[in-house]
Amino acid sequence: MDYTILVVEDESVQLESIAGFLSKQGYRVLKSSRPLRALEIAGDEAVDIVLSDFRMPEMSGVELLATMKRRNPGIEVIIMTAYGSVESAIEAMKLGAADYITKPVDLHRLQIMIRNILERKQLISENRLLRTQLSERFGFQGIISQSSTMAQVMNIAGRVASSNATVLVTGETGTGKELIAKAVHFSGSRREQPFIVVNCAALPETLLESELFGHEKGAFTGADRMRRGRFEMAKGGTLFIDEVGEIPLSLQVKLLRVLQEKTYERVGSSTSLVADVRIVAATNRDLESMIREGSFRSDLYYRLNVVSIRIPPLRDRRDDIPPLIDAFIQRFSKENDKQITGISREAMDVLMKYSYPGNIRELENIVQQSVVLSRSSTITRDDLPIRVSEPYPEASGKDEMQGSFTEKVEAFEQAMILGAMKASGNVQTRAAEQLGISERHLRYKLKKYDLK
Ligand SMILES: Nc1ncnc2c1ncn2[C@@H]1O[C@H](COP(=O)(O)OP(=O)(O)OP(=O)(O)O)[C@@H](O)[C@H]1O
Ligand SMILES: [Mg+2]
Repeated sequence: MDYTILVVEDESVQLESIAGFLSKQGYRVLKSSRPLRALEIAGDEAVDIVLSDFRMPEMSGVELLATMKRRNPGIEVIIMTAYGSVESAIEAMKLGAADYITKPVDLHRLQIMIRNILERKQLISENRLLRTQLSERFGFQGIISQSSTMAQVMNIAGRVASSNATVLVTGETGTGKELIAKAVHFSGSRREQPFIVVNCAALPETLLESELFGHEKGAFTGADRMRRGRFEMAKGGTLFIDEVGEIPLSLQVKLLRVLQEKTYERVGSSTSLVADVRIVAATNRDLESMIREGSFRSDLYYRLNVVSIRIPPLRDRRDDIPPLIDAFIQRFSKENDKQITGISREAMDVLMKYSYPGNIRELENIVQQSVVLSRSSTITRDDLPIRVSEPYPEASGKDEMQGSFTEKVEAFEQAMILGAMKASGNVQTRAAEQLGISERHLRYKLKKYDLK
């Protein structure tokens, strides 16, 4: 523990006794009997805490505190006041003193006070470090791309990050919508503030409303205490509204109001709260066709779609496949303690041709599985899942060439899902894993195609 404490006290006996005590506690202790000298020392040395007398010649402890804090806001100052002069202590606290202690100084109390202050300092700096790490991890650096289409996506996302504009990210499942949303947040001016996710597909309507806006105690049966909503938690930061296409119409009106007026109320409350959040919404649904069907409000759509980021499916940007494979091989061989350095030509050919209905998440799963299965230093075709190496599922009875593009894609999807369900003995978790999609997404598809 290498903390430095500077003791400023004009009475030499006091000075020596406090300094001696703190040295024995293992701190590096600097001493000064004069405030002006103390300022010089604090300018030259990395001081963590200043322990200063209140009444001194040259300048008062409060002046010293104010000057110290102005020059270096990170320095913590403890003021020692005479017993009974509480006003001066209060004045010092207002000016940013970390704490005050009355004289004669109770050394035991001082010790605890210093320990608390240092603990807090440590937490703050750890927190800062964590946040830097977060922005490194979730910034644009973590997004792998090579294709020119992704370069465009990254360009828009990068430019929008520094603004406060509402962003709508669209793209098929597994294309990296959440990844982009995080990069926008962690590269923008709100990066030190929270990034809060709300998944609109995960909750029924009533719960979703209180999830978003919070509720008062007693707002409905079961609301046995007040709960803050996601809007409140995201205050100052970003609210990521995932699967926004799943919001029921009645709630869409309420969300629209928040976006327009920037205020909202907790369920069961009439007090308005200010919505200080940046909104990033995402969906894999085609909102425009939902608008035509009447299941999504066009006014909400225009509010959300201020800046639109459309992430293309992986099959439309195959240039990204090799660098993604490389990155995933590296990651998973490290995670699994394997020494896999590459992939055979043949396996690469297969992966370059595959259709990736589950997009990058599916590719990620394929590589993970192959790394785990591989018995050599390269991934070969045999290590790939069968659906990938023999990519033609049984057609679902319909003529392959008939029907619109959407119908064909849907028929293909159904066949894949049925195949995976069969192969996994109707266990949804396993089928989803095999398909490289989330279980929730699988449930949604099963329902959509009425496959149960
Ligand atoms: N460009 C990329 N580089 C590296 N990893 C990526 C990239 N795109 C996506 N991924 C990875 O793929 C997985 C899926 O990404 P993400 O969860 O952001 O997709 P999504 O579009 O939100 O999917 P869903 O619609 O299913 O919610 C994640 O593990 C993510 O880290
Ligand atoms: Mg997502």
